[in-house]
Amino acid sequence: MPTVSLPGVCVWLTGLSGSGKTSTADGLATLIRESGRPVSLFDGDVIRQHLSAGLGFSKEDRDTNVRRVGFVACEIVRHGGVAVCALISPYEAVRNEVRQLVGDAHFVEVFVNTPLSVCEARDVKGMYQMARRGEITGFTGVDDPYEPPKRPEIELDTVNHTVRENAERVFGYLVHMGFILGD
Ligand code: ADX
Repeated sequence: MPTVSLPGVCVWLTGLSGSGKTSTADGLATLIRESGRPVSLFDGDVIRQHLSAGLGFSKEDRDTNVRRVGFVACEIVRHGGVAVCALISPYEAVRNEVRQLVGDAHFVEVFVNTPLSVCEARDVKGMYQMARRGEITGFTGVDDPYEPPKRPEIELDTVNHTVRENAERVFGYLVHMGFILGD
């Protein structure tokens, strides 16, 4: 375990459903743990079963979801911890609100920029197909908006790079910025 105290950081992965946020966040969390830093992982699908149970997918509910996770992440960062959050978080204004809350210097926004066509072809949960058939309405990218970040700290390409490569890229950035001790 490192003896020096490192600053807290919130890594915020945003992108469409099926873009690869969860896989990348999992890979990143493993690398961070292996480096000796504890990490808290907040994934949209899991959060919605607990902290955000009962919330739907209206703009208001999505913003509430994002604010709740942002609040918890902020507390973790304030005490010098590492929070990795993976939520669609489609609205720019509330993502920026969380950035301000956590503190710009401790917030790393990662845009998992997988094209809609690729997410839809993957359709891991079969939800795009349901949305196209009209069985789900208000599905992000189909009939609900996604506002891409304008100036993310990192933008990932999941078509030409593996999960491992992308997780290593974000990890390398954290080392470079002094949030994680390098070798
Ligand atoms: S967010 O918009 O509030 O940030 P979050 O990341 O928590 O979304 O949850 C997204 C997950 O909820 C998706 O991966 C998908 O499995 C599921 N889901 C169910 N309904 C919808 C919908 N209308 N739009 C997007 N995702 C949905």
